[in-house]
Amino acid sequence: MPARAYVNGQYMALSEAAVHVEDRGLQFADSLYEVAAVLNGRLFDWQPHLQRLRRGAAALFFDGLPTDGVLTGIARRLVADSRLPDALLYIQVTRGAARRDHLFPRDVRPTLVMTIRGFDFAQRISQQSRGISVISLPDQRWARCDIKTTGLLPAVLAKQEAKAAGAFEAMFVANDGTVTEGSSTNMYMVNGDGAIITHPLSARILPGVARATLLKLARDNHIPVFERPFTLADAKSAPELFLTSTTAPVLPIVRVDADPIGQGQPGPVAARLAGLLWDEIERQTNWRV
Ligand code: PDD
Repeated sequence: MPARAYVNGQYMALSEAAVHVEDRGLQFADSLYEVAAVLNGRLFDWQPHLQRLRRGAAALFFDGLPTDGVLTGIARRLVADSRLPDALLYIQVTRGAARRDHLFPRDVRPTLVMTIRGFDFAQRISQQSRGISVISLPDQRWARCDIKTTGLLPAVLAKQEAKAAGAFEAMFVANDGTVTEGSSTNMYMVNGDGAIITHPLSARILPGVARATLLKLARDNHIPVFERPFTLADAKSAPELFLTSTTAPVLPIVRVDADPIGQGQPGPVAARLAGLLWDEIERQTNWRV
């Protein structure tokens, strides 16, 4: 039973899942989402995804989000019903369906959607050994990028532009020259001392779950971490760059625009961090390549 969905209390095949046309997620992107990894039939880093969803719900004044226990129960049932060992679990919560009006509707319950579909994490291992390229683009998003809303149009356009340029990802650069993050990833540079530098948590970036796990693993393994801004020029002259996300745990960046990074090959710090992250994945889920 691959690709399953849950919509407001009902379980079904993903192909049958639907919401109301006046859902505020559709009409206003008045909605939040999460993407969590399922490896070996187990949810990876699940609690931080729930915490971020709850934080977003508070920021947007969503009422009536089910408890963590209920959300976890739905997620586990989708994993079990789908029998997919390796998958992505998607959650979306909207303010609900109501007659179109910008103002918050009264007496409306949030729409809750969860879906699960298969995902090949092993493909990332070969990408890790080859490295990927990115293009730099102006960061044209809103001023609350710390909230994981489905208002993703700037990310959609940027990712498409990256693909057209033969690149895997777009690296967003703010007006002041700072690299914020990728269109759907967090960005890191390695300095000449082998330390990791990444944009500090702020309203300019999403607090990535993979970011938090990676920085903890780095610190636990005595790899220095500096959460401070860096510029596109810093990035292009760094010995190593890499990105992280739930769907791309530590991918080395070997080219930005036309410029090779370091030797134009994945470097040792990213390789070490990738190893640490796969070990953590194995620890939590027993997943092995
Ligand atoms: N993207 N930054 C942005 C803008 C993102 O959209 C994401 C996640 C990340 C990484 O966050 P995490 O480590 O929690 O996955 C950073 C998801 C995977 C997506 O939109 O598909």
